[in-house]
Amino acid sequence: MPRVLPLILFLALTACTSTTPSGTNNGQATPAPSNSGETVSFAVANTIVQQRCARCHGNGNVMGGLSLATPQDIQRHAANIKARAVLSQSMPQGNITQMTNDERATLGRWIDQGAKIE
Ligand code: HEC
Repeated sequence: MPRVLPLILFLALTACTSTTPSGTNNGQATPAPSNSGETVSFAVANTIVQQRCARCHGNGNVMGGLSLATPQDIQRHAANIKARAVLSQSMPQGNITQMTNDERATLGRWIDQGAKIE
C-alpha cells in the first residue's frame, strides 16, 4: 500500500498543472484580436485612400457611384471599403494603383478600430 502513495501524489500534481488557467500558458501571449495593436490615425488611412482610390473615387470621379472624397464619405463607406479593399481585394480595380498588402492591413485596422475621423 505505501508504494501507491507516490503515484497518487504524482497524479494529483499532474492534474493540478494541467488545469492551470489557459491565460498563463507558460507566459506565451494569447493571439491579439485584429483591432488591437498600434492605433491607426485617420491621417494615415486617408493618405492610403487618396493615393490608391481617389483616381476613381475622388476628385469628381465616382466610379461605381462611389465617392471617397471627404472624411465623411470614407467613414460612411468604411464597411464597404473593408469588403472590397481588405477582404476580397477586388479594389483597387486590377490593383492599377498598386496598393500593398501592408496598406490593406493598415486600412482594415483603422476600420476595425472604429473608422474614426477626428
Ligand atoms: C481604376 C479605378 C478604380 C480604383 C483605383 C478603385 N476603384 Fe473602387 N470601383 C471602381 C469601379 C469601376 C467600381 C464599380 C464596379 C464594381 O463594383 O466592381 C468600383 C466600386 C467600388 C466599391 C463598391 C461601390 C458600391 O457601392 O457598390 C467600393 C467599396 C470600392 N470601389 C472601393 C474602392 C477602394 C477602397 C479603393 C482604393 C483602395 C478603390 N475602390 C479603388 C474603380 C476603381
